[in-house]
Amino acid sequence: MNKVKIGLMGMGTVGTGVYRLIEGHQDDLVKQTGMEIGIGRILVQNREKKRTIDIDQDLLTEDPYTVLQDPDVDVIVEVMGGVDQTREYVLAALEQGKHVVTANKDLMAVHGGELLETAAKHGCDLFYEASVAGGIPILRALVEGFSSDRITKMMGIVNGTSNYMLTKMSQEDESYESALKEAQDLGYAEANPISDVGGLDAARKMSILSTLGFHVGMNLDEVECKGMEDVTLNDIKYAQDLGYVIKLIGIAKQDDERIEVSVEPAMIKDSHPLASVNGVFNAVYVYGEAVGETMFYGPGAGELPTANAIVSDLVTVVKNMKLGVSGRGMVAPYREKKLKTDDE
Ligand code: NDP
Ligand code: HSE
Repeated sequence: MNKVKIGLMGMGTVGTGVYRLIEGHQDDLVKQTGMEIGIGRILVQNREKKRTIDIDQDLLTEDPYTVLQDPDVDVIVEVMGGVDQTREYVLAALEQGKHVVTANKDLMAVHGGELLETAAKHGCDLFYEASVAGGIPILRALVEGFSSDRITKMMGIVNGTSNYMLTKMSQEDESYESALKEAQDLGYAEANPISDVGGLDAARKMSILSTLGFHVGMNLDEVECKGMEDVTLNDIKYAQDLGYVIKLIGIAKQDDERIEVSVEPAMIKDSHPLASVNGVFNAVYVYGEAVGETMFYGPGAGELPTANAIVSDLVTVVKNMKLGVSGRGMVAPYREKKLKTDDE
């Protein structure tokens, strides 16, 4: 039986989940792909750091090029985060013909077009399902399930940390600081949680959803963004008294003239389905002209839900490798046609 070797770049919350799934679900992976999937190298910042699971120490390296240039590594799983340096690493991997699976919305929202073009040029897969809404397979649904429809609106809760915090603040009167600390301890928050509470993480995800859902190049700076960092317990109580809950909501709309994408805290009627999306859960409404209203719901962050999105991408990569094709399973954003935005 053939074996596929993974270069795992990052062994934090998500990397640990990927390791666990590859080890724990190996039989199922083999049944689906006919290939054994093994981890060949693991990049970390600090080899001496105490890990939450037992790992063969010999796999760990602090040198990215040991992973990127390992001739035995077929697929890079990028779960280290970061943008500029990580872009260099992903480009280096693709240029050497290595497929890439990433959870990095910061990277994909800014450099997705360039990276996907490079992947196509080198006949490689570059999949990024985990980058939006963690465990919900929303990118695949948009690309594959709505390909004949015309999506006019997407709306949802796409940041698990801020939703966890708003839930704790509204249901348990917890302070902002304590709720944020819990979200960090649970591994939901970004390394710099300002992007969670300030709305930028959700804006990045809405730009990826808009690019795939509307078939346009949606730039991040076109997304209007306001976070939930100024929402107080008093605001939450006031909204509750009026029969509303406060949620950080992303909205993307298109008509024949323009596309508008925004993220902001909003008062939602407590009977609205989004009002009952609590904790780390995310939900994305998608309205298609043909299908009408659909809603996708599930855990938006966390070790195993996110790892599931990554390892599922990995399974598609391995199936493509066996077939000798690339790109099958998720298409690159179509970035040429651009509709008007409010600024134009
Ligand atoms: P963590 O901070 O928990 O882990 C990051 C890992 O990458 C660590 O193992 C760290 O090494 C390593 N690392 C970071 N920078 C470098 C570097 N410069 N060189 C070498 N190794 C490095 O992050 P997460 O696992 O939470 O997130 C990873 C990615 O997944 C991010 O892009 C994030 O946005 C995305 N994501 C996260 C989700 C979540 O629920 N956490 C959900 C969806 C996406 P060391 O262990 O030695 O410190
Ligand atoms: N920090 C992100 C969140 C991780 O809380 O939603 C998932 O992308």
